[in-house]
Amino acid sequence: MTEPLTETKTADPANPGAQEKYFVRFTREQRYMHAVLFTTFLGLAATGLPMRFSESFWARRIATGVGGFGAVLFLHKFFAVLLTIAFLIHLKDIFQRAFIKREKGIFWGPTSMVANWKDVKDIIGHMRWFLGLGPKPHFDRYAYWEKFDYWAVFWGMIVIGFSGYAMWFAPFFAHFLPGWALNAVLVIHSEEALLAVLFIFSIHFVNTHLRPDSFPMDMVIFTGVESEEEFKHKRTLEYERNAKQGKLEKRVGLAPPLWLINFSKVVGFTALFVGLTLLVLTLTAYFS
Ligand code: HEM
Repeated sequence: MTEPLTETKTADPANPGAQEKYFVRFTREQRYMHAVLFTTFLGLAATGLPMRFSESFWARRIATGVGGFGAVLFLHKFFAVLLTIAFLIHLKDIFQRAFIKREKGIFWGPTSMVANWKDVKDIIGHMRWFLGLGPKPHFDRYAYWEKFDYWAVFWGMIVIGFSGYAMWFAPFFAHFLPGWALNAVLVIHSEEALLAVLFIFSIHFVNTHLRPDSFPMDMVIFTGVESEEEFKHKRTLEYERNAKQGKLEKRVGLAPPLWLINFSKVVGFTALFVGLTLLVLTLTAYFS
């Protein structure tokens, strides 16, 4: 839940003039994990929603496009297995780092994903700042809304995953779950899926990419590095702590190559477009 500070030296032959200093925020493994997470999530949403709103014209179009609702369900299960593997790898990583490597600060402290008292103060401080009643708070490695995003997905994975597998392997689960519970899992899965789609495609997109500090897209999850200016401005406390402890130099990386920036833009904007389209289709189907 906290990340090892790994130095990445990214050669930039296509962009030799890049003068700015860059710092590593995410390791390659973390970026790959996010890539698997968002592609499988988009896949699950694009196949799950047509099953839920199967009467709407777009659901039938999607189903016809892939070979019928049987194929939609098959693809849904395929993405579900990929996402489950990614989630299990993430759990294994946390376990290894916490209990085998005994890394400090995973569950508590300024670099942890776990919420603490400072997050409560930051929420209040941020609200006061929005209303013009106080200064903008300075954030550490993860701001409170980033922790919220993380735990929303973590918790959602458990609920959606468990209910999904209970439907998939209903005869097996029937050995120890009562009949009503097996009916309830469909409702739970369906409603939690709707909540996840609404949350990711509205709040997460806006918080991460569309807010003024990052508009139109925060590339750091794709490139892994951010400029010194961004680092200082967005994660002031982490920057200052690293400077004080002499750890800044260890985190220096080179400017991301131009191809990676362009590739990230294509992938990022495609995801944004697919997500927002699904959001609009879902909302129209839900209210009609
Ligand atoms: C490990 C993860 C998941 C598994 C194992 C899983 C599995 C399933 C299964 C077996 C069905 C039942 C289809 C049927 O027979 O009627 C289903 C339906 C559905 N899934 Fe998933 N799923 C997973 C994740 C997701 C996610 C992340 C979303 C949304 C983003 C989602 C959205 C839906 C929706 C909307 C339905 C239709 C429910 C309805 O008919 O009301 N699923 N899923």
